[in-house]
Amino acid sequence: MPTIVFVSPKGGAGKTTSALILATQIARKGAAVTVIDADPNHPIKAWSTGANTPNNLTVLSDADEENMIERIEEAAEKTPFVIVDLEGTAAKIVLLAVSQADLVIVPTQGSQLDAAQATRALKVVKQHEKMARRSVPYGVLLTRTSPIIRTRTMAHIAGSLTDAGINVFQTELNEREAYRAMFSFGEPLEHLDPREVSNLDKAIANAEAFTAEVIATLREGERPAVAEVA
Ligand SMILES: Nc1ncnc2c1ncn2[C@@H]1O[C@H](COP(=O)(O)OP(=O)(O)OP(=O)(O)O)[C@@H](O)[C@H]1O
Ligand SMILES: [Mg+2]
Repeated sequence: MPTIVFVSPKGGAGKTTSALILATQIARKGAAVTVIDADPNHPIKAWSTGANTPNNLTVLSDADEENMIERIEEAAEKTPFVIVDLEGTAAKIVLLAVSQADLVIVPTQGSQLDAAQATRALKVVKQHEKMARRSVPYGVLLTRTSPIIRTRTMAHIAGSLTDAGINVFQTELNEREAYRAMFSFGEPLEHLDPREVSNLDKAIANAEAFTAEVIATLREGERPAVAEVA
């Protein structure tokens, strides 16, 4: 039962946005998913009080340092996919969540500073790998990138991460109004009104490509439950 954990010590890197995009796309494809919203502001819980939350998407908001591992275990028994959204701090709770992860996703925006923060997040992954003596699949996800031009900074960041042997998702999450609108309207992407939200179709296509790459990455680890979202 794959557990996917979004990690970045940098506030505003795009963890919550990317986590909700992934969760809603997996639910839309028909697999049940639990989101553990471990941000004290509970943005995904708040989103789920809006209309059209899929029946197969559950949001839990009571996870803390004391119970994180149990919450993930319980959720993994109930739904084939578990997604954990963490607060932007490198606290113990991050290590606890990473200890249960089948895939760690490290969102990072296109500035050198954010890329340095992503490297910090990866240290948590490496630390856990040493502690547990198991490898933890991870990928850096470039977020809020321009759909039109590839900036030099972005190309440089992606290149230097790859050169350093760091896994970077091929799919980037573009900067899209639709991803903010999901939260403002409390709706999944597919229920937003294309007359009110520009480039909604492109945002959905980008969300689908990201989800497909996540599923393919999980499948490399040959986890049986992943087949359900074929
Ligand atoms: N791909 C995107 N397109 C447009 N806006 C985005 C995108 N990703 C994130 N944002 C916006 O950037 C801001 C920060 O994103 P988000 O809340 O997802 O980051 P976070 O890493 O969860 O932050 P925190 O550490 O505070 O929890 C939000 O206002 C969000 O709407
Ligand atoms: Mg967040």
